[in-house]
Amino acid sequence: MTWTPSPMPSATPKSSTPRIVLGVAGGIAAYKSVELLRLLRDRGYHVAPILTPDATRFVGTVTFSALASEPARTSLYGDPTTPIPHTYLGSNADVVVVAPATAHLIARYAMGLADDLLTATLLATRAPVILCPAMHEEMWEQPSVQENLATLRRRGVLVLEPESGHLAGGDEGTGRLPEPATIAELVERVVDGYRGVLSGVSVLISAGGSREAIDPVRFITNRSSGRQGYALAEVAARLGARVTLVTTVERELSLDTRRTIDVVRVESASEMHEAMMLRSASNDCVIMAAAVADFTLKASNEKLKRRDGPPELHFEPAVDILADLVAHRHAGQVIVGFAAETTDVETNAALKWQKKGVDLLVVNDVSANGVGFEYQTNEVVLLSGDREPERISQRSKEEVSRSILARVATLLPEGAP
Ligand code: CTP
Repeated sequence: MTWTPSPMPSATPKSSTPRIVLGVAGGIAAYKSVELLRLLRDRGYHVAPILTPDATRFVGTVTFSALASEPARTSLYGDPTTPIPHTYLGSNADVVVVAPATAHLIARYAMGLADDLLTATLLATRAPVILCPAMHEEMWEQPSVQENLATLRRRGVLVLEPESGHLAGGDEGTGRLPEPATIAELVERVVDGYRGVLSGVSVLISAGGSREAIDPVRFITNRSSGRQGYALAEVAARLGARVTLVTTVERELSLDTRRTIDVVRVESASEMHEAMMLRSASNDCVIMAAAVADFTLKASNEKLKRRDGPPELHFEPAVDILADLVAHRHAGQVIVGFAAETTDVETNAALKWQKKGVDLLVVNDVSANGVGFEYQTNEVVLLSGDREPERISQRSKEEVSRSILARVATLLPEGAP
């Protein structure tokens, strides 16, 4: 599957030139990174190349130094301009892109090793990282490689999947580095996106499935994993927003967003309602990504005993949080609802759009494979205003989040916050 970046609106230009660290690992595709460097320079970026020692067996530092904004570096030591090149490069970068990323480089990065300048810079940076793996198909398909990539994705690294075609040694298969133009385009979108599209905007997000207690040890819940809500929180934080995440589930946040996202733990629909209503007024945008119970029940104070036979559970309607948020919205506030559907998706989505009074409805067909609950990926349709429905084809929940937040950015009033 090819990773297709979603469109981002251009950020307000910052005065300084975007700074890109271009990492090159030791694979035959390293020759393409010369062209990538040129394309990044053509976009006006400041590019600092780092070659691993093995990369220099395939391409020369002279070529990179001649085309880049500063000399190509290959080592942690002996740099006449700075004694600590990895922190200098890492903290100044707007984006770090590694192309090609070999299986070895990916493994070292996933392990947190820092045994050369490139891996040390990857650890030292808080900038978004894009990895562009390239290797033989047999290597690409190894569970070890895929698990390392899954770990890195979980930590917020963007992975541009390799393409199919000719590989080194006359072989064919999946593992080819995408064309430099594709990589440069992705870098551009990330630069634009991560340079503050939501700078100063406050976003309140709910995540996970609500838990309605039956007794002190049992509850009724749903299949929501909280992944989409967490992904939204992480991406919003990287786009410059102040984020509050009201969640029923605890998931690991990436290092770069851990300190900035305010996490509030709740369990039931009524606890989530209270937490959201308390904070809604002070947020520019509210996103109800949580799967909230439509029905709740009166919990027993004591554990129900088997000897008493199957319990009779009496449900009553749960509070509709989204409806209450919409009823109390303040001028200019953007409210986003989700619609999980399994049948007549388009008709039901259109009805929900009419009914909910939200600014943006994110519709997913949760019966489809790879979509919605419990999956790493999602596929959604965005409904807002008079615009044609926009289908975001299946991709990681982080990428879906970028598309949703790009749309949110267009819905915020001019000059917000
Ligand atoms: N929602 C909410 N409070 C509830 C139930 C749902 O705020 N008690 C929110 C969800 O977070 C989501 C939206 O309402 O953003 C739509 O949820 P969904 O379950 O798809 O729709 P419902 O209106 O509950 O309709 P139905 O269950 O009939 O599909």
